[in-house]
Amino acid sequence: MGKTSAFFIKTAVNLISRSKLSVLGGIIISVLAPVLLICVVLDIRGTVDNPYFGFLIYLIFGPLFVLGLVLLIIGIFISRGKEDIGLFTFEYIEEQLARPGRYTRIRRHILLSLIFTLTTLLLVVLVSYTGFHYTESTAFCGLTCHQVMGPAYATYQHSPHSRISCVECHIGKQSQWLTKSKFSGAKQLFAVLFNTYPRPIPQPITSLRPVRETCEQCHRPEMFHGDKLYIKDRFLPDEHNTHVQTALLMKIGSGGYLGRKAQGIHWHVSEDHPVFYKYADHAQEDVVQVWLQDGGQETHFYKTSETGKRDTNQQGTIRKMDCMDCHNRPTHVFRSADEALDEKLVTGIIPREIPFIKRQALKTITPHYDSVDAALQEISRALKEWYTTHYPDLVNQDKTLLDKAIAGVQQAYMENVFPAMHIGWGTYTDFIGHKNDSGCFRCHDGRHFTENGQTISNDCDSCHIILAENEPSPDVLGLLQKTLLHKEQP
Ligand code: HEC
Ligand code: HEC
Ligand code: HEC
Ligand code: HEC
Ligand code: HEC
Repeated sequence: MGKTSAFFIKTAVNLISRSKLSVLGGIIISVLAPVLLICVVLDIRGTVDNPYFGFLIYLIFGPLFVLGLVLLIIGIFISRGKEDIGLFTFEYIEEQLARPGRYTRIRRHILLSLIFTLTTLLLVVLVSYTGFHYTESTAFCGLTCHQVMGPAYATYQHSPHSRISCVECHIGKQSQWLTKSKFSGAKQLFAVLFNTYPRPIPQPITSLRPVRETCEQCHRPEMFHGDKLYIKDRFLPDEHNTHVQTALLMKIGSGGYLGRKAQGIHWHVSEDHPVFYKYADHAQEDVVQVWLQDGGQETHFYKTSETGKRDTNQQGTIRKMDCMDCHNRPTHVFRSADEALDEKLVTGIIPREIPFIKRQALKTITPHYDSVDAALQEISRALKEWYTTHYPDLVNQDKTLLDKAIAGVQQAYMENVFPAMHIGWGTYTDFIGHKNDSGCFRCHDGRHFTENGQTISNDCDSCHIILAENEPSPDVLGLLQKTLLHKEQP
């Protein structure tokens, strides 16, 4: 055995030292092999909790190791032909076998190469396996291509889905989508390397896996029922930043289940009567035709222009309606400037007691800035200047209050605007309501008619009952609270 290993080392050194390339490859491999092994073990055990650790192992050390291996092999092939240690080429083996004395030698060569191949193979498999899992992690998705994924990652972190991983929505478990996503992932990596990716990433994205399945791992709209109270907190741009509320009784409805009829908003997701539509633009905003399949019956609604002209043959792409036609922004929620500030005001991150803070903040965050730094500086400067001029007492008495407000306004900006990716206020459209006549009003606009004049309902009460609209302390909420209090203290 001692003899074999001495021979092993001697032959290996001989083989490798014949070529500079092989020497380089050999050095890379022998330095990286132990490092990689230790790192992978640490990573599997979760000892190191740094998102860039995985990046270092699987995207730098791993490929370097493989490069070393490739150099080594190329080197050996180039130095082929020296007589005492040839390669394991066909001619070489033939020649060796022809001479009986050399038979043991070739056996050793085979043993040597087997050991070498097996150990490196083991390491490569280990690294690729754990590396594959690394590419499924939120850290990889969100941080690797920092600038590209930055906006998606930032919005995700502030969403109700921030505890589920990116791949749960974007890839899923079916192998067909897995390969598809890895291929498109590799393509995207190239786009990042060569700086050719689109800014902003266009909406809608088309490489999500089939979405009903994705969402329905966790949500089941057929089990929903009844109405739900939605309360929206808003602040007016007046001196007191008056807090107003909108209360909507939302007809959430149900997708229908075990004989229970589908109704209300989630009526659309029932498989019993699928809704299809045809859109003429990339953004899926221009819906030219909608049709409903109910049993054997089909009802077609065609978009009609202001002059009453109806084009029944317009070209477009056909889509079956699913969750994404309403919930296209379930996690990457980009707010409008107004909403972003309202959210900071209602949570107290921006103090409400500062006069006119809503109005002044809105003025400083809405313009276009070339970079985040420029925006942050200008927000701070403009607010300080305005309050020093108009409310010097406030600035002198309690400096921390204004500083807190400035930080809150800057946060509202940073969470929603990403100049490097050309994402400004309102770049991405949310289909959930009917802001700017989009969303539900792409179809429910009273302008889609059947041949005999029937339209898709656009009666406000078919979707929600407006209990209060932008009212300071709405009666209805007061009443609810009173009733609840009574119940609690009989
Ligand atoms: C709850 C499901 C869900 C999770 C979790 C999720 N995404 Fe998304 N993501 C979506 C949907 C849906 C879209 C499509 C939006 C559209 O087409 O309008 C999207 C779009 C994107 C886009 C395209 C840009 C955009 O904003 O439309 C990127 C990039 C992205 N996601 C990255 C990520 C990353 C990175 C993570 C993890 C940090 C993540 N996503 C987690 C559902 C999800
Ligand atoms: C792995 C599980 C999981 C998946 C997949 C998932 N969600 Fe969720 N979703 C959650 C959890 C958990 C919450 C938070 C519930 C809460 O806070 O009450 C949530 C909340 C929501 C909400 C309520 C948001 C709010 O503001 O209250 C909506 C709407 C929603 N998800 C839609 C979707 C859609 C659409 C998809 C598919 C693209 C999806 N979800 C995929 C787990 C999931
Ligand atoms: C026709 C549009 C539409 C479709 C299609 C749709 N939803 Fe909804 N969904 C809504 C609206 C509107 C609300 C309530 C308002 C809001 O969330 O802002 C809602 C609410 C929800 C909620 C929160 C419910 C709660 O109790 O707070 C979840 C979760 C949800 N939908 C999941 C889904 C899933 C999963 C699908 C696909 C199978 C789906 N929805 C399809 C419009 C739709
Ligand atoms: C792609 C077109 C389309 C979009 C987008 C759309 N709907 Fe509909 N919706 C329909 C059609 C078609 C019907 C059936 C015709 C009707 O009832 O008027 C319908 C019916 C409804 C109904 C009545 C269901 C019942 O009980 O009969 C409600 C409520 C509704 N939609 C709410 C919404 C909401 C809320 C949104 C946006 C979040 C929305 N829809 C988006 C096409 C659409
Ligand atoms: C097809 C369904 C549908 C119809 C028809 C409809 N709405 Fe809505 N509306 C919605 C949904 C869904 C939301 C919730 C959006 C969200 O969650 O942000 C909403 C939100 C609102 C809000 C609150 C907006 C906010 O963010 O403060 C108001 C106000 C409103 N609708 C008024 C109306 C009025 C007035 C009509 C009649 C002209 C009407 N809606 C018709 C579906 C509908």
